[in-house]
Amino acid sequence: MALDEFLEELDRLTAEALLTFTAAGDAEALERARVEFLGARSGRLKNVQKSLANVDREDKPAAGKRFNDVKTAIESGFQDARQRLIASGPSAAETAGLDITLPGSRPRLGHVHPITRTIEDLKEIMGRLGFSVAAGPEVEDEWHNFEALNIPQSHPARDPLENFFLATAARHEPAAGNSPGGKGPSGSQGGDRPLLLRSQTSTVQIRVMEHAEPPVRIISLGRVYRPDTADATHYPMFHQIEGLLIDRHVTMADLKSVLRLFARSYFGGDVHIRFRPSFFPFTEPSVEVDMSWNDAWIEMGGAGMVDPNVLRAVGYDPDQVSGFAFGLGVERVCARRHQVTDIREFYKNDVRFLEQF
Ligand code: PHE
Repeated sequence: MALDEFLEELDRLTAEALLTFTAAGDAEALERARVEFLGARSGRLKNVQKSLANVDREDKPAAGKRFNDVKTAIESGFQDARQRLIASGPSAAETAGLDITLPGSRPRLGHVHPITRTIEDLKEIMGRLGFSVAAGPEVEDEWHNFEALNIPQSHPARDPLENFFLATAARHEPAAGNSPGGKGPSGSQGGDRPLLLRSQTSTVQIRVMEHAEPPVRIISLGRVYRPDTADATHYPMFHQIEGLLIDRHVTMADLKSVLRLFARSYFGGDVHIRFRPSFFPFTEPSVEVDMSWNDAWIEMGGAGMVDPNVLRAVGYDPDQVSGFAFGLGVERVCARRHQVTDIREFYKNDVRFLEQF
């Protein structure tokens, strides 16, 4: 194809396209014109571009350059026509019969859930005290949820009615995830391992210690599950913050100091901490932790010195290291701070409640 012929075709196309765009009286007509001239697959501009291949070889550079100029011109002709239509035509609001001078309705902005927010705050506070964040699975085996935590088979906490056991079990991977010194899951000869939704975040203590040498200084925040009837202070799923510190010469005084610093940072200066003697299989001695803020004592969770049996289960030497652990209810902490009297409110997803945070 001769260059002249090609250029002529381009000129014709430009003139026609610009004319059609200008003539388009509404958005539909303009769209039709766009498809006709600028359509990506079989628009007329595209077809001319294809015929560029037939132009004589030595004319190709000139033809190509002209083609690009024309393409720009047609595209901007289309944009001009579009702007013209937008500026002149009735707006979408007007055609829909809306009075745009009325005050608008504000879009509702969401924000993070108060529990998520509390979790972030607690991580931040404990991070400043040198605790890093560890995580573990919500579907657990009995070794991490019970045995390594010194909760023997006969213990009432292992009652199937007290836990959410899963109908499926995991195949045994021999000695999976245990430090060389650890005893490892019992019955690791093979067979199925029962699984359950973890009933406490203390599972993460074991998971961390199995893979780390002391000193250990972690917190873990996450969901736990117990078949409790929901009431103002209970819910079948809730969150715990677990803390674990293992080192040489750790004492109950360290535990109380850390918890007091933690409570002061979260609630403010006027908070008090009280320990009441208690029992947990994985701590000795064990305490219930109460906090008082604005004159009301609230039970926040449990704590104690890590039981030597637990240290042995993960291959630590109880003569060399000691440590403390605590597990507090995140919902309780959050509810206390914001004066929420019923933790079920957190999970109703009622925006009128959630908006207040
Ligand atoms: N895991 C205990 C519970 O869920 C709390 C706890 C954690 C107690 C750590 C002592 C030490 O009730």
